[in-house]
Amino acid sequence: MADGESCDFPILKALQNQLTSRHRFHVPAHSALPGEYWGRYDLTELPGLDHLFAPRGCIARAQELAADVFRAGSTYFLVNGSSCGLTAAIFSQCSPGDTLIMGRNSHRSAAAGLIFSGVKPEFIPVGEGPAGIPLNVLPHDTEKAVQHSAAKAPGLLITSPNYWGVCSNLGEIAGLARKRSVPLFVDEAHGGHFLFHQSLPACAALSGADLWVNSAHKTLGALTPGSYMHLRKGALINTWKLEEALAMVQTSSPPYPVLLSLDLTRGWLRNCGNDAFESALETAFYLRYKITQSAVFQCLDLADLPLGMQLDPLRLTLYWEKLPFTGYQLCELLSAEYRIEVEMAGAAYLVILVHPGMGQETAEVLIRALREIEKRFKTENRIRPPAPYLLPPQFMSPREAMEKEARLVPLDQAAGCVAAQLLTPFPPGAPVLYPGEEVLSETVERIAEDLRNGIHFQDMIVSPSLQLRVVSDW
Ligand SMILES: Cc1ncc(COP(=O)(O)O)c(C=O)c1O
Repeated sequence: MADGESCDFPILKALQNQLTSRHRFHVPAHSALPGEYWGRYDLTELPGLDHLFAPRGCIARAQELAADVFRAGSTYFLVNGSSCGLTAAIFSQCSPGDTLIMGRNSHRSAAAGLIFSGVKPEFIPVGEGPAGIPLNVLPHDTEKAVQHSAAKAPGLLITSPNYWGVCSNLGEIAGLARKRSVPLFVDEAHGGHFLFHQSLPACAALSGADLWVNSAHKTLGALTPGSYMHLRKGALINTWKLEEALAMVQTSSPPYPVLLSLDLTRGWLRNCGNDAFESALETAFYLRYKITQSAVFQCLDLADLPLGMQLDPLRLTLYWEKLPFTGYQLCELLSAEYRIEVEMAGAAYLVILVHPGMGQETAEVLIRALREIEKRFKTENRIRPPAPYLLPPQFMSPREAMEKEARLVPLDQAAGCVAAQLLTPFPPGAPVLYPGEEVLSETVERIAEDLRNGIHFQDMIVSPSLQLRVVSDW
């Protein structure tokens, strides 16, 4: 395609700019599969090919093979990410008047499920570790929520691992869900690789989850946004309702390159998964060892977590004490001066990802950059993480709040109002405010601080000024 002045293709241009050589410590982990497949095979439901909804041919067979590899009773290929799987799971299994028990760290696609279904959430709180790094839900808090709501709960949703690789004690949580016959949904979007190496954390498949999702495009090398949804054999799930919902939230045109990548990923995992993750683990352990020898940088460690939680060793969350930088500033410095792209920045930390195919040479690039930064900038200054977002009182279900008449208020006048919208910093994409919740003054202050740090809020109205949609007659 011509790249001349007469052609204005902003997406192509932005992508081409990215193709300059860079060191990538972020998703997608595309190093494992051959690239020549993706440009070809963009076909449709031709004779001999299959339908995505109620498949009977090659897609059905590929899904069966995937279920076998992922130790599931059945598997669905998702062509709109784990997002559509989570939305469909909640939408199909929950109704108005029900309560979905869910971690406060749930992804915004789960919030979409709440709004579509009309179910009310009961949130399980999530604590923080060093440098304000979010941890995950505890069995003790989960049990309290289950005891409180089991009778009207069509599901318990746990996000494990979280964006920082912190895993809840899924085995214990599955046990207490089973005791009360509450189906367990696990958002394992970032943990599709766990099953394929014994040094990786316990996975949803072997912990007794009823339904779980894996974003194969995040850690397994499939094309974005290819993902899997798996059901345990005998899962407490209404499958025809689930399939109906999946057909409502996905395209009816099977994107064959994405489906093919899910099929190839399954084959690659079966044949090479263990070896590939073994070598990625070696690189990650080396990187962790080198980073923690520094006088400035530390990595989130198992010892920082409550007993029973686990940590994905391929995801390193770095934090520091003696640099004058926020995580956002350090992220920019690494990109601008060292051509290093990380997975995510927070106020006082960075998340980096090690994926199969990343050799020790790439790890060395990061180690050298961190050493140099340490020498150039070490000071006694310390960046403090902001106060965590609080869990606000909830006055109505998200759907009720969205259906009410709403008005716009400037952000700095929103305290005391009831939100009529979601508010989601990205990454990680977990809402910090749900429709139906009180906008606390602490929330307003924290949003303002995040905005000053340059965080992108996916649902913020920014023009002509920062505004929130709130329920009118409250
Ligand atoms: C915890 C979590 N769950 C679900 C999703 C959605 O995954 P996908 O991008 O495959 O739709 C994300 C996306 O980043 C996520 O972080």
